[in-house]
Amino acid sequence: MLIIAHRGASGFKPENTITSFLRAIELEAKMIEFDVHVCKSGEAVVIHDFDVDRTTNGKGIVSELTLDALKKFDAGDGEQIPTLDETLNEINGKSMVNIEIKGKNSYKIVAETIKKQIDSSVWEADDFLVSSFNHKDLLKFHKLMPEIKIGVLFEEVPENFHVIAQKLNAYSINADTAFLSKEIVENIHLKGYKIFAYTVNNEDDKIKMEDLNVDGIFTNYP
Ligand code: G3P
Ligand code: MG
Repeated sequence: MLIIAHRGASGFKPENTITSFLRAIELEAKMIEFDVHVCKSGEAVVIHDFDVDRTTNGKGIVSELTLDALKKFDAGDGEQIPTLDETLNEINGKSMVNIEIKGKNSYKIVAETIKKQIDSSVWEADDFLVSSFNHKDLLKFHKLMPEIKIGVLFEEVPENFHVIAQKLNAYSINADTAFLSKEIVENIHLKGYKIFAYTVNNEDDKIKMEDLNVDGIFTNYP
């Protein structure tokens, strides 16, 4: 079962910060998940919410703040909100990454950044899994970069999941543990996709997911 560090090792360090990614690498997570938005000045930044209020000492909407403004906030333990570029530079291919596209229209800068990294650094196309709950933006990303693996995010996996997954030539279905059953997992496997389950933060849930035969779990405690 693949262990995916959810927002980095976010159970130990502030979520979606460089320190939480480096901790995940120390803990030998095979994949690190983080969330991306585009900010007002156009850079891709790594933060979960659409605003900075919960995870930093600042206030405001990410898409309405410039990178300069965002960099002034403390994202926990004195950490700054990292850009996607900084994040990939720091992880430096030591773990695979799952980039979750959160912010509307951030798929373009995500594609540009991945391309640039593959052309100029240690990163290879196979190191990336790009996912989103926004299936329209995910399709736009897929058209720009068909060589990158796609994870289709759902809370509850709908009956017609394979219609959506097929359009995206998806690699995995990434779904909430709360709605998973043996039948759904078998169906996902029959249709030829991996199933990664979020978020598993205790031993009981981990055993349940192993019993269901999921291929990977997102956890804050990699
Ligand atoms: O990608 C799995 C998980 O991160 C999706 O939910 O809200 O934690 O981004 P969320
Ligand atoms: Mg996420």
